[in-house]
Amino acid sequence: MTVKLTWYGHATLGLEVDGYKILVDPFFTGNPAASTTADAVKADFILVSHGHGDHVGDTVAIAKRTGALVIANFEITNWLQQQGVEKVHPQHIGGGYHHPFGYLKLTFAIHGSGLPDGSYGGNPAGFLLTTKDGKKIYMAQDTGLFGDMKLIGDEGIDLAVLPIGDNFTMGPEDALRAVKLLRPKHVIPIHYNTWPLIAQDPHAWARRVEAETEAKVHVLKPGDTFELA
Ligand code: NI
Ligand code: MN
Repeated sequence: MTVKLTWYGHATLGLEVDGYKILVDPFFTGNPAASTTADAVKADFILVSHGHGDHVGDTVAIAKRTGALVIANFEITNWLQQQGVEKVHPQHIGGGYHHPFGYLKLTFAIHGSGLPDGSYGGNPAGFLLTTKDGKKIYMAQDTGLFGDMKLIGDEGIDLAVLPIGDNFTMGPEDALRAVKLLRPKHVIPIHYNTWPLIAQDPHAWARRVEAETEAKVHVLKPGDTFELA
């Protein structure tokens, strides 16, 4: 079973797993790097890692249009319901659940999570997805480096999606240290070059990671798809 992962720019991902379409942090409107629009994307599920505007993004509009089930922490799903989103599934950090597309666990992240209107968004999260045939995909989303990435790595990561932009999240140096803790087979960098503030050279980073670790780095352009066979 192949997992397809499309990077739409910034931290916005589209996964195709077992016939299900899963959007992660769907930020299209106002995203200068976005390769498509909120009106065009399909979704059966939407995952929201934390409350910041560049991650909640177009969740409300896409959920209402598609009827997708939104998975996020309890505080964010409550807020989404107040915005008129009907189908939500609250989880919290350290907790996993068997969804139709696989087992999804919310992982620790060092970051903030305030919602766009100032509401409390709980704690930020990353995502660890285990597909039905056992592939492990870790999407760190917004976080600084933390030592417990080693524990996540102990699960045996096939693909890690990591921020490298610096300023708001890990930069290239710490993202390299993250790869050493996570020991994934494949890595995709995200959360860079959306704005000048987080400009990075992903190819230079990829060369360093491949020189110093066993991981293979896949530098995507917004709209590109990586297939994990
Ligand atoms: Ni953020
Ligand atoms: Mn962000």
